[in-house]
Amino acid sequence: MSHSLMTPSAVAGTGTPALEIRGLGKSFPVGGLFSRDSVRALHGVDLAIGSGEIVALVGESGSGKSTLARCIARLEKPSSGEILIDGVDVLKRDRFQASRAFRSQVQMVFQDPFGSLNPAHRIEHFLRRSLAIHGKGGGSEEATRRRLEELMTTVGLEADMLNSYPHELSGGQRQRVAIARALAVEPQVILADEPTSMLDVSVRIGVLNLMRKLRDEQGISMLYITHDLASARYLADRTAVMFAGEPVEEGESLDLLANPAHPYTQLLVSAVPDPARAGSYDPVRRAELRQAVMASTRCAFDGDPNQPCSAEEPVRHHVGDPASRHWVRCHLYRPWAAAGAHALASEPTNPSHPASNAQEEAPA
Ligand SMILES: Nc1ncnc2c1ncn2[C@@H]1O[C@H](COP(=O)(O)OP(=O)(O)O)[C@@H](O)[C@H]1O
Ligand SMILES: [Mg+2]
Repeated sequence: MSHSLMTPSAVAGTGTPALEIRGLGKSFPVGGLFSRDSVRALHGVDLAIGSGEIVALVGESGSGKSTLARCIARLEKPSSGEILIDGVDVLKRDRFQASRAFRSQVQMVFQDPFGSLNPAHRIEHFLRRSLAIHGKGGGSEEATRRRLEELMTTVGLEADMLNSYPHELSGGQRQRVAIARALAVEPQVILADEPTSMLDVSVRIGVLNLMRKLRDEQGISMLYITHDLASARYLADRTAVMFAGEPVEEGESLDLLANPAHPYTQLLVSAVPDPARAGSYDPVRRAELRQAVMASTRCAFDGDPNQPCSAEEPVRHHVGDPASRHWVRCHLYRPWAAAGAHALASEPTNPSHPASNAQEEAPA
C-alpha cells in the first residue's frame, strides 16, 4: 500500500493501537497434494483497533472475515504480513512465548455456541479450565470460586448455572458462557466472529449490549465480525468493509453506513431493510454481486476490462471532510463528485454506482 493517500492504520486519538494488522495475506492450497493452485483468502489487509474501540468487519460470506480473525487468533498461519499487539509483532516473537502470552491477550468468540462447548462438562469446567490454563485462578480455591461467580455475574448469568450442562442452557446463555470463558483470560482484545448470527433475534440485542458493556467497563477492544450492518451500526465505533479478501472502505460506523462510497458497500447497505428506503433492495444486482465475489481474486467490482479496476490496485481516498476517518479504495470514486455520493439517500432505487456522478450511468 505504498501509494496510499493516507496512513492505512490511522486511528483517532493517540497511543499505540491495541491491535494492528499490516499487509496480512493468506493463501490456502487447493486441488490436492500435488497441486500448486491456491486460493488467496486475504490480500494485504491493514486494520487497526484502538484501545477500548469496537471495530466491525462486514462483508458477505466468503469475503475473508473469518480467515482474518483466525489469523489474528493464530488458528491459521498468515502467508505474509504483521500482527502487532500493543506495538509488538507477535508473529516474530519466540514461538512458545508468543503463543502463551498472545493467547491471553487475544480471545475469540465463535459463531456457534453449541459447537464450542463439550456437552459432557458442566459450565464450571469450561471457566475453571480457562482460568487454570492462563494462571488467572487467584491462588486459592476460594479465590477461584469468587472469580467464577464474578464471571457469571459479569455476563449476566446466575452463579448457580455453573452447575448446569450446556444442553440445559439456551443459545443466548451458551454464548454468554463462551464470552465468560474468553473474559476469564483477561484479554485486551476479543475477536467475535458472528457471535449472534445463530441466536434468536430476541436475544441478539442482549449479547450486543453485553459486548458494549465489556468495552465500556473493562476497556476491552473488539473486532466484531458480522454480515448484519444494522448491528454494526448499533455496536461498532468504526466499520471496515471486506470485499474479496481486502478492506475496501472504512469509517466511523454512522458515517460509513449513511454515506457509503464503494459500490460494494452501497449494495450491502441497500439490502438492509429500511422503511425510509423502500424499493432499494435489488435482488438481481445482488445476485450479480455475489457472482463477482465468487469470481474475483481482487476488487474488480465491475468486471469491465475497460475499467481500471482489474488492472491496477486502487489507492485510498478520503471521503468527506479531510479530517474524517472515512476512506474508500475504489477507482470509480470521484472525490469531486462526493456531494452526489449520498446515492442511497437521494436515489433509493440506484444503489449500484459509486459517487453517483451525474455524468456516469450506473451499470445495468
Ligand atoms: N481451510 C481453508 N481451506 C481452503 N480455503 C479456505 C479455507 N478457509 C477459508 N477458505 C476460503 O477463503 C475464503 C474466505 O473464507 P472465510 O474467511 O471463511 O470468509 P467469511 O468468513 O467472510 O465468510 C473463501 O473463499 C473460503 O473458501
Ligand atoms: Mg465466516
